[in-house]
Amino acid sequence: MERLQKVIAQYGYCSRRKAEEFIQQGKVKVNGKVISELGTKVNYEDTIMVEGNVLAKKEEKVYYLLNKPRNVVSTVSDEHGRKTVLDLLDTPIRVYPVGRLDYDTTGVLLLTNDGELTNLLTHPKNHVEKTYIAKIEGIMQKRDLEKLCAGVIIDGKKTSKAQARIKKIDKKKNTSLVEVCIHEGRNHQVKKMFEAIGYSVSKLKREKFSFLTTVGLKSGEYRMLNTKEVKKLYNEVKGN
Ligand code: URA
Repeated sequence: MERLQKVIAQYGYCSRRKAEEFIQQGKVKVNGKVISELGTKVNYEDTIMVEGNVLAKKEEKVYYLLNKPRNVVSTVSDEHGRKTVLDLLDTPIRVYPVGRLDYDTTGVLLLTNDGELTNLLTHPKNHVEKTYIAKIEGIMQKRDLEKLCAGVIIDGKKTSKAQARIKKIDKKKNTSLVEVCIHEGRNHQVKKMFEAIGYSVSKLKREKFSFLTTVGLKSGEYRMLNTKEVKKLYNEVKGN
């Protein structure tokens, strides 16, 4: 709860002093009731009217970078009652994920209430780079990886060119670690790309989204982006 005059000033309607005058003159209503007491406390859910004008809620833009753990859905709600990424954030502001990661995929996930940036970052024409580390069942063959890089058909449409490299082969366990960088964001894209060349993905982590990484964040931890990072994200996608 905040003092009424402070809230009016925070909405940008007028200065705090001017707001005090309006209150004393009986020109302020809270939830339809005239309030002329200066000490009255309100919250941001209250409907405040000054001189007949309803104050519009000016929501500040916030940006969170989450290191998504496994077994969490990246939607704002889940019909099966599973944990969502929003359950991991302690914020009073309604944010939503920029794109999606599968239930079992870990790594970089951006959440924001900035619709403009979300649209820019998820629009295919902007080719935002996403880098994944995939654990693959079997020994990855170079010639197969070349096919994946050139583009494979998934859901009846060819994927655009990708970059990929083998990071590690474990002959004993019969697994491979592969880094793949894509510029699209189709549904289950990475898993389907590997499927298309005959391999299955047993673990998937998004290492990078544009220039953002999970460095310094343990699984399930998050941080806010700073102004410089937000500007840089805008610069990456504007004017494309
Ligand atoms: N590709 C996938 O297959 N799954 C993800 O979660 C992200 C990209």
